[in-house]
Amino acid sequence: MPPVTYTHGHHSSVVAAHAARTVENSAAYLAPLVEPGMRILDVGSGPGSITIDLARRVGPTGRVVGVDASAEVVAHARAAALAAGVDNVVFEVGDAYDPLPGERFDVVHAHQVLQHLGDPVAALGAWRDRAGLVAARDIIYSATVVHPLTPELQRWRELVVALQARNGGDGDAGAKLKSWARAAGFASVETDVETWCFESPRGRAFWGDQWAERAVHSAFADGTERHGLADAAERARIADAWRAWTADEDGWMAVLHGWILARG
Ligand SMILES: C[S@@+](CC[C@H](N)C(=O)[O-])C[C@H]1O[C@@H](n2cnc3c(N)ncnc32)[C@H](O)[C@@H]1O
Repeated sequence: MPPVTYTHGHHSSVVAAHAARTVENSAAYLAPLVEPGMRILDVGSGPGSITIDLARRVGPTGRVVGVDASAEVVAHARAAALAAGVDNVVFEVGDAYDPLPGERFDVVHAHQVLQHLGDPVAALGAWRDRAGLVAARDIIYSATVVHPLTPELQRWRELVVALQARNGGDGDAGAKLKSWARAAGFASVETDVETWCFESPRGRAFWGDQWAERAVHSAFADGTERHGLADAAERARIADAWRAWTADEDGWMAVLHGWILARG
């Protein structure tokens, strides 16, 4: 598969942001289909908060397996499951293109993973062989709406998409899930959008403070430097712009995601 650099890395600011995700805020489209006793594979499970939430929903007779390429984040997810007292979930280091070969599941789920893969169609094809239902949701960064949209925050949006492309992924993956699933051979693809909206003081702090930190300290900083997309001074201006947005009571943003439920 084409080599891909994981754009966000696993800096503490990134892992903390991902760990705030739940089925309700990141996989609501799938929630009505999750039943007690199901076996679910969560590919690219990251810190595992959605995975653990799925495990609660399938109950003691069900089983959920999270697979991620990063041993560091798998260790984090195992500790989170232990702390939550959820014991019908396991986390393994593995590859999205060939997760748990030979095992079958009721559902393969992936949240914000296909945007990072150089060959998303091949990954979807592998998941199709593992389950009757593949559920995937991904972001469309170019469609992120920020108010007030300063030149620095507009530049942030451009940089995220540009860096993702340089790293071999696709920052607008959410808009392409349907076409990728069709190319992977699924007989039926249901699709729609879901959003995150950050506007309350808590919501603005969550997104704005996180990105103020990520702009200067995470793999976003390293990647934009390495690819010559932005220098330290520009990243510092972007971090300042996110802090100002967090403090602005008029601050509002919508993050658009596309999702698919693919069968057959
Ligand atoms: C944006 S995070 C999403 C984590 C989690 N699904 C969530 O939404 O909280 C993407 C995850 O995919 C993992 N990943 C990227 N490429 C992968 C690959 N080829 N195989 C397995 N995991 C991969 C990364 O390590 C990262 O933890």
